[in-house]
Amino acid sequence: MKVLGLESSCDETGIAIFDTESKEISQRLYSQIERHQEYGGVVPELASRDHVAKAAPMIQDILQECGGVESIDAIAYTRGPGLIGALMVGASIARGISWALDKPVLGVHHMEGHLLAPMLGDDHPEYPFVALLVSGGHTMLVDVQAVGKYRILGESLDDAVGEAFDKTAKLLGLPYPGGPQLAALADQTSQSRFRFPRPMTNRPGLEFSFSGLKTAALNIIQQYSPLDDLLRAEIAHAFQHAVVDTLRIKCARALDHTGYSRLVIAGGVGANQHLRAVLTTMLEQRGGRVYFPAIEYCTDNGAMIAYAGALRLNAGQADENVYDVLPRWSLESLPGF
Ligand code: KG4
Ligand code: ZN
Repeated sequence: MKVLGLESSCDETGIAIFDTESKEISQRLYSQIERHQEYGGVVPELASRDHVAKAAPMIQDILQECGGVESIDAIAYTRGPGLIGALMVGASIARGISWALDKPVLGVHHMEGHLLAPMLGDDHPEYPFVALLVSGGHTMLVDVQAVGKYRILGESLDDAVGEAFDKTAKLLGLPYPGGPQLAALADQTSQSRFRFPRPMTNRPGLEFSFSGLKTAALNIIQQYSPLDDLLRAEIAHAFQHAVVDTLRIKCARALDHTGYSRLVIAGGVGANQHLRAVLTTMLEQRGGRVYFPAIEYCTDNGAMIAYAGALRLNAGQADENVYDVLPRWSLESLPGF
């Protein structure tokens, strides 16, 4: 089965074709970052318009390479969670193609796409595993028993990790989205005179809170301004260490709680090299294993949607009388199979 996947939940237009027999993936990705940069964050209306402009030509292009529209057996698109206008663009295109070709279509949960992205690699985990989802919009620990059998163990009560990276980066004068640049700044120094709190680690539980870290950064920045390059690097270093240390502590707790030995990291912040190194060491010490998707499948992309959709479409699931999108959508409400 060849599944065309469309991702348009935020500021990336991702188009992919996944072949369930050959496991081959082709994909196209367009990032709108430059369009939103001057506003310091994603402008929803501009995001929708850009998806409208880019999605159709990208689909045409990938179909030309992959055997034409007639070779497509089904279509998967991101139905939520995400920006409502952006989601509607992808959903409308996907349903239009489905209607024209008379082929099944299925709305996929964006976070399920992220969760299953490590499965796109050759060396992928067996079920069950604990997944740490860390993106610009979400931070959660999930008990993944099988496809569609998800139990949320803990979530962020306020800012997502990526959001905390981006807000702190902005305070340090870095352009949106500052996460990767803050990480690069942090890696310029091997130590810091500052120490940020590890929020919510001194009491039991698997919830997170990251908004206080940005305030801690603001206080230091105000106290030490004007900042020279070394000070900026040391603040970034202390911030990154606090975030990664907090995630390490909570991941260890989630593994203890479930008794699992496999940990999967998904979402854009999974590209962070310090996080990768710290979690790899921790899992080695515990005698378990950590799995990361390839960097191209960490941040938003069409391949993860094509893949998650293909699993469900292959099992006979498809949208029936579905006309809406779901900007808020619980991962736990998904059907298993
Ligand atoms: O999963 P994603 O592409 O989009 C959402 O669904 O949100 O994640 C984007 C987030 C942004 O906040 C970005 O700053 C952050 O991931 N990010 C990073 C790194 N690469 C991307 N944060 C820290 N270190 C990185 N290397
Ligand atoms: Zn995402």
